[in-house]
Amino acid sequence: MREPLPSAGPPPGLLIDRFGRRLHYLRLSITDRCNLSCLYCMPSQGMAKLPHEEVLSLEELARVARVAVSLGVDKIRLTGGEPLVRRNLASLLAELDALKPRPDLRLTTNGLLLADNLDLLVAHGVSTVNVSLDTLKPERYGPITGLGAEEGRRAFARVWEGIEAALAGGKLAVKINAVLLAGVNDDEARDFARLTLDRPLAVRFIEYMPVGRRTPFQAQRFLPAEEMLQDLRGMGNLVPLPARPGDGPAQRYKLENAAGELGVITALTSHFCAACNRLRLSAEGQLVPCLFSDQTLDIKSLLRGEADDAKLAEAMLAAAAAKPEHHQQNANSHRSAGCQMSRLGG
Ligand code: 5AD
Ligand code: SF4
Repeated sequence: MREPLPSAGPPPGLLIDRFGRRLHYLRLSITDRCNLSCLYCMPSQGMAKLPHEEVLSLEELARVARVAVSLGVDKIRLTGGEPLVRRNLASLLAELDALKPRPDLRLTTNGLLLADNLDLLVAHGVSTVNVSLDTLKPERYGPITGLGAEEGRRAFARVWEGIEAALAGGKLAVKINAVLLAGVNDDEARDFARLTLDRPLAVRFIEYMPVGRRTPFQAQRFLPAEEMLQDLRGMGNLVPLPARPGDGPAQRYKLENAAGELGVITALTSHFCAACNRLRLSAEGQLVPCLFSDQTLDIKSLLRGEADDAKLAEAMLAAAAAKPEHHQQNANSHRSAGCQMSRLGG
């Protein structure tokens, strides 16, 4: 009798956590700086800027990305803060674009500098931009993002120009991330949804999350995704879309005959942790296994010491091993947890 073949386990050296989840999506926060101060993101007293030398250099970021790709990462998102304020972003994009195998490159931005940077993003093959935009009313943009009324209107116009230009170019997929807050912009779900009728873009409604130790959670502002969906169902036929392998945490829908699609991201009312495939790197060089966890793993000191790539890979495998099964936050958690979003990105 022949011995049964050994089962084909995962190839060695992939980022796989203790619960069998393969982490193939790296989110790099490339700066803690931001040109906005959104009311749910920045602490009211502001955030001290990290001293320049505390933030990873572009070379260090590229090195982390290269090692991550050797461990099976096939999707990299640049985030912040606001990634488009980072000087010499072009050189990092060029390095990422040259990685082999070439990961899917994406960027999360507030869109203020999107129109100016569109050509650069397209030239380096960025596939998707996620634009954080919480209102379609120019007069609300200032109050939500910490700008004055007039400046807010102008900023809104620039963001919108960036979105239209990205769509017109047709080379970048566009997603709009909107955080709906009760009493602030919760009357805009249908307006956002209507954008998808004749534009090939995706709108993602993100549930407000208690994240960032220094940003108190305003529980009275929390709007459950189910309420947003209830509102959207009133618009007509909201068709659920099937989940695709490798999909993010959004539950996806489409309005009948719409060019684009909708999604809700429910960090609190339902745990999407079981399908989590991501590892994060904060602007100050900490690997962050979970958005809501205070546990981080310092990779900056390795990058700045004598560590070779094998040592960096070991640190990444350790971060994967440290990933908790799920977070502990829920809609009644009044305590925010984890890193500040401005240093980590969403
Ligand atoms: N809850 C939900 N989303 C948040 N973001 C930032 N802070 C929060 C929070 N507390 C979102 C931003 C952006 C993405 C990076 O994360 O709006 O879309
Ligand atoms: Fe707003 Fe994003 Fe800047 Fe935070 S990092 S203040 S969510 S634009």
